[in-house]
Amino acid sequence: MLPFGALVIVVMALRKHPMTSIDTVGSYLDQMDIPAWRFFPMVGSTNDMALNWAKQGAPDWTLVVADAQTTGRGRAGRHWITEPGCALAFSLVFRLSPDEVAYYARLAALGGLGLIYALEGLGLRGSLKWPNDVLLSGAKVGGVLVESSWLADQLEAAVIGIGVNVSFGSVPPAEELRYPAIDIQSALGEPVDRWSLLAQIVHGLRKYRNILAEDAFVAACNQYLSWRDEWVRFQRPGEQPQRVRIIGIMSDGRLSVETQDDRKFDVLNGEIIMRDD
Ligand code: BTN
Repeated sequence: MLPFGALVIVVMALRKHPMTSIDTVGSYLDQMDIPAWRFFPMVGSTNDMALNWAKQGAPDWTLVVADAQTTGRGRAGRHWITEPGCALAFSLVFRLSPDEVAYYARLAALGGLGLIYALEGLGLRGSLKWPNDVLLSGAKVGGVLVESSWLADQLEAAVIGIGVNVSFGSVPPAEELRYPAIDIQSALGEPVDRWSLLAQIVHGLRKYRNILAEDAFVAACNQYLSWRDEWVRFQRPGEQPQRVRIIGIMSDGRLSVETQDDRKFDVLNGEIIMRDD
């Protein structure tokens, strides 16, 4: 039998990071009207699991969720840390219809809009930081990584991976971050149920996927775009940062910006710099 002191430590640890059982998650996932799901207490990357499953025939809207990830990744090969019990890390398999394939470049924004929809349900106003982040109170609350599986030159499936900082402990220490970050619990001032949040994000993804090919989708991106019409520091790969004014997201997913010498261009790759250095 455990001595009383040890028992207190175990209980405190579990209160900080409650163990997530498949039963807890499963009862939510079963109600989400998705064709197939897998839950992992710990996994390398849910995107890898979803990509592998897609290759084996996973249907549209298949969901892979993990309580924790050991080798989660973000854009540009960056690490994405997912500690147990406090974050959402999941990936969805999308079998794009021939009509949707043309709008592949909108999928990162689709992931962001799904999260923004769920935040709105909590009374919080999130915004899209082009190309793949969601901000809350000017700090990163979630990120989206879109990857795909190909058969020769045919797109087999797209995988939308979403990571969300939900509660205390999900935001890595400031010295490990390249940008300000926040969790939803801190912004809201109360605990948030991860699995109902996940269900709401999936609702949001359904809502916006239904209009993926429409102008209304681009309008929604611009409605929620961070720093629209504002001047920011922007860096294109291999170039020095420069000040640009953000004009908006274009129909093809590129970001339209204007430089201080009145030149306008649309960028496919680049980063809005949130640090002050
Ligand atoms: C970014 O901010 O650059 C994107 C982060 C995306 C992280 C999510 S967590 C679930 C899925 N699995 C991964 O390995 N990455 C995505």
